[in-house]
Amino acid sequence: MKAIVYTQYGPPEVLQLREVEKPLPKANEILVRVKATAVNSGDWRLRKADPFAVRFIYGLTRPKIKILGSVFSGEIESTGKEVKQFRAGDSVFGHTDLRFGSYAEYKCLPENGSIALKPANISHQEAASIPFGGVTALHFIKKAAIKPGQKVLINGASGAVGSAAVQLAKHFGMVVTGVCSTSNIDLVKSLGADRVIDYTEGDFTQNSEKFDLIFDTVNKLSFSQSLKSLNKSGIMILSSAGMPEMVQGYWTSITSSKKVLTGQISHSKEDINFLKELIEKGHYRAVVDRTYPLEQMAEAHNYVEQGHKRGNVSITVN
Ligand SMILES: NC(=O)c1ccc[n+]([C@@H]2O[C@H](COP(=O)([O-])OP(=O)(O)OC[C@H]3O[C@@H](n4cnc5c(N)ncnc54)[C@H](OP(=O)(O)O)[C@@H]3O)[C@@H](O)[C@H]2O)c1
Repeated sequence: MKAIVYTQYGPPEVLQLREVEKPLPKANEILVRVKATAVNSGDWRLRKADPFAVRFIYGLTRPKIKILGSVFSGEIESTGKEVKQFRAGDSVFGHTDLRFGSYAEYKCLPENGSIALKPANISHQEAASIPFGGVTALHFIKKAAIKPGQKVLINGASGAVGSAAVQLAKHFGMVVTGVCSTSNIDLVKSLGADRVIDYTEGDFTQNSEKFDLIFDTVNKLSFSQSLKSLNKSGIMILSSAGMPEMVQGYWTSITSSKKVLTGQISHSKEDINFLKELIEKGHYRAVVDRTYPLEQMAEAHNYVEQGHKRGNVSITVN
């Protein structure tokens, strides 16, 4: 089968189209014929080992995992003999969690992974764009346990996590302010934001407005400044926090009435099924900026790494 393989950390050109062995499903696994995947912000970080600490987990001098890609949409070609939830021919989408390997024509995954039947009302390219941002935003918003009517500000509202967070916060009844640049104002409004602040026109932390929840999806806010824009018992979500923000967040949570949520999320079947149902009801939509063929993976990585994609970048596999 065709796959995008990388054997060394580096620029997008380390991603090479190769012929590799097609996998065989174990007893509890499904074999997915991948129709689409996506390039997410985590992918280019793994490709170039940024931050350096990536190497301590994924290989010190060379990547241990040779095929990247953590999201997929496709069709089940065959199933292991113990599989009960899915059948050959089912269209499914989901997240591989830490297994990766969806930059390929086929991928084996355990049936109890973060996998759901694909909504019939969206394409494979759209479905592959859902799990990364959607499940991340859902995980943190559920953890924050914000009540309907409370005020939330989402920074980076036009990215993968941000565009999902705007839609989910509205779904849960919050009053949503999105922060993005001028060219993305219409997109963020169309996702349901009650108000949009253009970050090129000014810094919201400089006025006296307070929020119950600030969700910074892109780690671009000053920690101390945005803390001042939180209500007394407000919550800050830093989905892309580095080590300094994690330490600051932990300290704030134990020494004040404000809470800071950070950390790596895990992907569950429950969350992907929740998103599937929202999509089927027309309450949640995929935001796809560009679509590239598998052969142009390096170009897709180059674009995503610039940090200005609108929503998601999908890859058509076959
Ligand atoms: N904790 C976890 O387990 C977890 C899971 C998934 C993702 N993450 C992390 O979450 C982060 C966000 O991922 P993502 O895929 O959503 O990012 P992304 O899609 O690459 O973000 C791009 C968006 O950010 C906006 N942006 C750039 N600079 C901005 C600024 N100064 N203020 C406001 N918006 C700005 C861009 O809009 P403009 O072009 O208009 O600037 C663009 O739409 C990543 O660091 C990722 O590693 C963490």
